[in-house]
Amino acid sequence: MDGLKLLEQDHKRFRKMLAEGEETTERAVKTRTDLFEQLKREITIHEQMEEQVLYPALREIAKSRDIALEGYEEHHVVDEIFAELEQTPPSDDTWAAKFKVAKENLEHHMDEEEDDMWKAARREFTDDELEQMGDRMMEIKQAGEELMPRA
Ligand SMILES: [Fe+2]
Ligand SMILES: [Fe+2]
Repeated sequence: MDGLKLLEQDHKRFRKMLAEGEETTERAVKTRTDLFEQLKREITIHEQMEEQVLYPALREIAKSRDIALEGYEEHHVVDEIFAELEQTPPSDDTWAAKFKVAKENLEHHMDEEEDDMWKAARREFTDDELEQMGDRMMEIKQAGEELMPRA
């Protein structure tokens, strides 16, 4: 499968989960806990797929090097916000504010990947190369899901 299509499917799911999380209230402790756990697990795997396959390939090319480097940094910021959210009880009144900041950061990051990074990838790589990347990303996804099964 085309690697960018695979990533796009994840992004669509993340956007949906982020919108759902924003709708919750302090009373929805279980919904928040489950949603957050699923989102965190899937984002961790998604970042691995990007950092082990797409980003290193783009980093090798002078024209797309900066955008790959920016991607790593944005993952780092998203991870930090998620780590903080993990320490915040879903019943706490700061949860919604922290979740909103996580949502905005992640949405911004996905927008940049979709608008700039994937455009660069389509320009630099052939369909065959993108297929091969997709196969490798799928292996990482499957291995990640086995390591981090759903609760
Ligand atoms: Fe990313
Ligand atoms: Fe992504």
